[in-house]
Amino acid sequence: MPAPRELPSASLLDSVQFNQAVIIPNAVQGLFRRRPNAVGVATRLDLDGRGVRLMEGLRERYGPGPVWIRVMADRVLLCLQVEDVARVLDGSPHPFASDPAAKRKGMAHFQPDALTLSRGELWQNRRAFTESVLQTPAQAHALAGEFLDVVVEETDRTLTGVGDGPLRFDDWHELFRRIVRRVVLGDAAAEDEELSDLLATLMSEANGLPSEPSPSYPDYVERLAGYVEAAEPGSLASLLAAAPQDVDTRVAGQVTHWLFALQDTLAVNAFRALALIAAHPAARAAVAQELEGEDAPYLAGCLQEAMRLFPTTPLLSRETLVDLAWNGATVPAGTQVLIVNAFHHRDRAHVPYADRFAPQEWTAGDAARQRAFNHFSSGPQGCPGANLALLLGTAVLAQTLRGLPGLRATDGAGGLDPGRPLPHSLNPYALRFGA
Ligand code: HEM
Repeated sequence: MPAPRELPSASLLDSVQFNQAVIIPNAVQGLFRRRPNAVGVATRLDLDGRGVRLMEGLRERYGPGPVWIRVMADRVLLCLQVEDVARVLDGSPHPFASDPAAKRKGMAHFQPDALTLSRGELWQNRRAFTESVLQTPAQAHALAGEFLDVVVEETDRTLTGVGDGPLRFDDWHELFRRIVRRVVLGDAAAEDEELSDLLATLMSEANGLPSEPSPSYPDYVERLAGYVEAAEPGSLASLLAAAPQDVDTRVAGQVTHWLFALQDTLAVNAFRALALIAAHPAARAAVAQELEGEDAPYLAGCLQEAMRLFPTTPLLSRETLVDLAWNGATVPAGTQVLIVNAFHHRDRAHVPYADRFAPQEWTAGDAARQRAFNHFSSGPQGCPGANLALLLGTAVLAQTLRGLPGLRATDGAGGLDPGRPLPHSLNPYALRFGA
């Protein structure tokens, strides 16, 4: 009988280098809430660029199929080609569950009932609820009109507040926090900075992988539940009661993900998009022309590009729930599988515009159908808030560029030269804009 086939295993040296370039820097920068100083250091050292070059080398040495690699003490399967990426994401959450130990340990601290930590019927239950409230397939949410009014009001307020001074990430982040509290919870939450601060603290604690819910979690959820019960018209909270649910859905427990994804993740991506637009005269001209009309698909493409070039979810991890046949070998149940978005998005062998800012690929090209691009993930467990994020993010960018037509980056964007390959990292905390 022929010996059973084995998938290739990376050498010890390759494993060490992978941990040094990809795993450790990601953990040091903060898995759940980024630490600005660490992000600054990782950017200066070009660790993301090193990670991409290292993975190109792994593919050359071991072939395009998945390769076993050591991640700290575990043996993990690393996807190096887009076909395997698609297989994993199309098979999530079963047989590829999205709650491997490290993610569960950290996330359970601030959102123990999260959809993304759920499996089987519980995942289906919470997913149906989430898609109903967020109206996942709709390009524009039914409450888009109300949401866009909030965006215009809050963006103008921020730009007035900033005046002639530089626009910094702190101003931008505060803007997103206000918008998000109003959109998700209602105007009554507009001033509730404490709620956002409480969530930020829980997420900072989660960086240490504490493995149990925080003692402050009940207080935080109670505060959230007040807004959920009030169900203020015009906010997402007004749609919760009518969405499909039962006692296992844990309605308030779903809202946390929406809050941090909009206020933190989207804020970072939109700020980077602003820097990219400011640095690319052709894109700027195209945006300016588009802003004279109603829709802004090219501007949405700019936001997508910021996420492709600098993915805020650099790694997607899964755990196999059953034994799986893979390239003639058997991958046992309980295996961790890794997809490094930061590599596939910048894979020069397969993406002709890998290191360029190419918003037109999202309007006239096929970027939206590329399985290699997973800043919103894809497949059954793809981000259910992607369209809402694009709607709100594009609206904030549009209102900012209308208010500051001469906007330019005064600091932190030095690497964004349209004539050269773009860097692999862009530190949002160092960016400054002036009019
Ligand atoms: C720019 C903004 C956003 C980005 C880059 C983003 C990215 C992602 C990614 C990569 C995943 C998959 C994570 C994984 O599989 O490990 C995900 C899942 C998810 N996202 Fe987003 N997201 C964004 C905004 C939003 C918004 C606005 C909402 C809700 C209002 C949202 C709600 C969710 C939820 C609930 C899941 C879990 C889905 C599931 O497990 O079935 N996201 N997102």
